[in-house]
Amino acid sequence: MITTRVSEIGQYVGEVVRLQGWLFNKRSSKKLQFLQFRDGSGTIQAVVSKADVGNELFAVADALTQESAIRVDGKVVEDPRSPSGYELQATGLELVGPSVDYPISNKAHGDAFLMDHRHLWLRSRRQHTILRVRHTLIKSIRDYFDNAGFVLVDSPLLTPAACEGTTTLFGTEYFGRQAFLSQSGQLYQEAACMAFGKSYCFGPTFRAEKSKTRRHLTEFWMVEPEVAYLDLEGDMDLAEDFLCSIIARALDVHAKEIETVLERDLTALENVRKPFPRISYDNAVEQVKVLHAKAEPELQEQLAIEWGMDFGSPHETELTKQYDRPIMVYNYPSAVKAFYMKKDVLRPEVARCVDILAPEGYGEIIGGGQREDDLDTLEAAIRAHDLPEEAFKWFLDLRRYGSVPHAGFGLGLERTVAWVCGLHHVRETIPFARTMDRLGP
Ligand code: 4AD
Ligand code: MG
Repeated sequence: MITTRVSEIGQYVGEVVRLQGWLFNKRSSKKLQFLQFRDGSGTIQAVVSKADVGNELFAVADALTQESAIRVDGKVVEDPRSPSGYELQATGLELVGPSVDYPISNKAHGDAFLMDHRHLWLRSRRQHTILRVRHTLIKSIRDYFDNAGFVLVDSPLLTPAACEGTTTLFGTEYFGRQAFLSQSGQLYQEAACMAFGKSYCFGPTFRAEKSKTRRHLTEFWMVEPEVAYLDLEGDMDLAEDFLCSIIARALDVHAKEIETVLERDLTALENVRKPFPRISYDNAVEQVKVLHAKAEPELQEQLAIEWGMDFGSPHETELTKQYDRPIMVYNYPSAVKAFYMKKDVLRPEVARCVDILAPEGYGEIIGGGQREDDLDTLEAAIRAHDLPEEAFKWFLDLRRYGSVPHAGFGLGLERTVAWVCGLHHVRETIPFARTMDRLGP
């Protein structure tokens, strides 16, 4: 007898096959048991009939509890009413691993309870859909850059210095020295793009974020492309094309599941088409001022803005509500951005950077821009940011030996998954979330 998976079952109509998985639900009557079976590739109903399998096996089926591990043998029949299109008429059944008092029932549980049982919660249909969307996004991100001639160059995770400001650094003892968990692989991609022209890294990054918001994790995944001989405009073109490509692919593969399992309206995602509005920070501040003046009293305080301030989530949310697709806000004040940003030659108070803000209040999903390629200006910026000069010596070499204009960006995977899946909080977008108050399971 062939052992197969639910996803492959259509090939075996009329044959008897073996499936290996778990029971997620069951309905029963005196003579029939309807086993709701899952094996990670899909779900199917296995019908166990007393007349077919005899009393002994029927009793095994009758005693099965939620999440018991089972092997089921049966004949595959077409069933247009079932979501998989097939049903299994059981001929055999084996209990592989019992499951007593499975803690997650079909009743509603609180978020904290479910996160505490994340190792089991992963088995639910909802988590399945979310993590499959994540899988597809990861694959399409890699495909996009691989097909565009980028070389994957992994950045280290243990680093000697900060990339994105010293306030969110996780420190660790390193054989008697101080080391940090990487906040971003960018600085190493700057070296890589001078070697390969176009490079990217894609891996976990760490931020000791003291903010308990729905958008912040302490460990999250970021993809970071970097390109030599690219300016801010080219960087925006790349980010826009990239985002359109990965969202279209996620919809191609998962539109139905996202709509049915996650009940997410897809209109906003279908609108992710070029061109994205390109709005200067100056102009964005003016727009927010108008929104501030018109806002309800409770929102008004949060929308207060002056040129020079960084945007907070309320600013971003209200601004993006004015548009039907992601927007690109560029040329922020240098003072609110990282040390490596290229200062505008005519207006050094602004940086040649861009943030891409997703619609529907999902906030910043991409941050990037052109890098400072002038040795003296960069050295001054390192000093002005109080960064340890010794640790950046190698980085300055990139400006000493054949420095060229270059640019790149970082896309946060979890915020992107949250947006695509329409999730309020990023905690469900990563298999095992790490936040300020969560280090387990
Ligand atoms: O804007 P950020 O800080 O940019 C960088 O780290 C650059 N070095 C990237 C580059 O140019 N190569 O972070 C980039 C993105 C954000 O837009 C957001 O999507 C995500 O990373 N991000 C977070 N996601 C979850 N939790 C956090 N604490 C995050 N911080 C940033
Ligand atoms: Mg940012």
